[in-house]
Amino acid sequence: MSLFIKKPLAQLMEQAADTSKGLKRTLGPLNLIALGIGAIIGAGLFVRTAAAAGDAAGPGVVVSYIIAGIGCAFAGLCYAEFASMIPIAGSAYAYAYVTMGEFLAWIIGWALILEYALAAATVSIGWSEYLNSLLGGRIPYEWCHSPWEHSLATGAQGIMNVPAVFILIVLTLILIKGTQESATVNSVIVVIKVSIVLILIAVGWGFINPENYVPFTIPDQTGHEAWNRHGWGGVLGGASIVFFAFIGFDAVSTAAQEAKNPKRDMPIGILGSLVICTILFVLFSHVLTGVANWQEFKVAGKEASVVYAINTYMHGYGWLGTLVTVAILAGFSSVILVMLMGQSRVFYSMSKDGLVPKVFSELHPKFRTPFKSNMILFLFVSLFAAFVPGNVAGDLTSFGTLFAFVLVCAGIWVMRISNPTAVRPFKTPLVPLVPILGILICSSLIFSLDYVTQLSAFAWLVVGLFVYFLYSKKNSVLRKGGN
Ligand code: ALA
Repeated sequence: MSLFIKKPLAQLMEQAADTSKGLKRTLGPLNLIALGIGAIIGAGLFVRTAAAAGDAAGPGVVVSYIIAGIGCAFAGLCYAEFASMIPIAGSAYAYAYVTMGEFLAWIIGWALILEYALAAATVSIGWSEYLNSLLGGRIPYEWCHSPWEHSLATGAQGIMNVPAVFILIVLTLILIKGTQESATVNSVIVVIKVSIVLILIAVGWGFINPENYVPFTIPDQTGHEAWNRHGWGGVLGGASIVFFAFIGFDAVSTAAQEAKNPKRDMPIGILGSLVICTILFVLFSHVLTGVANWQEFKVAGKEASVVYAINTYMHGYGWLGTLVTVAILAGFSSVILVMLMGQSRVFYSMSKDGLVPKVFSELHPKFRTPFKSNMILFLFVSLFAAFVPGNVAGDLTSFGTLFAFVLVCAGIWVMRISNPTAVRPFKTPLVPLVPILGILICSSLIFSLDYVTQLSAFAWLVVGLFVYFLYSKKNSVLRKGGN
């Protein structure tokens, strides 16, 4: 039987319609937009904006956000068509199964592990840093860093990141309790973090020093800086750094099987959260690089950059610095929550299809959540959170996401040709132009990631091939003729 055996669309629709024993449909349009914003605003905005400005783009980071936002918009339009058409848990993986066949679906599912599980690990590491900053650095260095890190100040060597594992346990327990509960916790956090971003923009605007915008891009001081670290090339390099900030809008699509009216509400959730966040990101980065100079983000303002800018330039607003730290802790928690949820839903779909073991789709008898999957995932994500540095996990996350975006864009195009008459409640405009532009922008961001990340992600995909041929292919429900 062909490697590219495809799941019939009708069979997938049947699975999506069966709500009697599956996941519960509890989420409305506002819940879905909140789910997106909950997953999007996090370490990307509060940590990577300053890193992109200092290392690559200067004040031009505003344009980096616009470029990354445009790439995400193309992918988001494609996700919206799929999510309204095939409202099933599993997202890009499920779409690939009907459009490009089992083998590519497996690869995408495997890449999504990089996206969701490692994003949860990356953000939990950021959470640990900010907790330590709120506690005035009272957590011993050894117990809040991975063994690959050491302190330049004291020479202490990391052993294990305990706070990162702690926040993962708490959020896993909330997830097991139920999707509606998780959505409620998420909505409260979203209101807090959006308010903080809005306050920062409004108050910070009055402290902008226009001189900080000149020059607008980083000059080539040594004469041989890398192409993606100065000038307009640096603005592109900055786009691949801030791309992490957008990750999450696609997580809305993993909850399609829990949406009350997925055909109407999935596009609203995906595109709505993307548009709101892009506007906030552009305004926020404009204010941050206007209040402090980009050069400061290389040195004193390198860590906790937002709090640095407030304490250094916004006199009389020290209270805002503390409030921001608390909001960041809450904000990071919702990102981790949605990422963990997204990952367990992808596993749920893959398990229903027999490509990963049954245990990943067993639901709790009372809460009807995939509780065993949540627990296994906790163990896996904790290993990364405890023992791997944040930037390594972060770049791998970007790779997995960009890779999934490319395949989703391609999938929309393939589907228009292979299934032209299928009902499409939301249609991606200008196909194939929009998918092609999405593929081009996302691929160029993959190529501007560093070499080690590309190599590690490639190794991960090779491991995935072994798992597929040794386990998944043999256990595929579709191959066995089942439903
Ligand atoms: N977009 C998410 C964040 O920035 C992953 O934390």
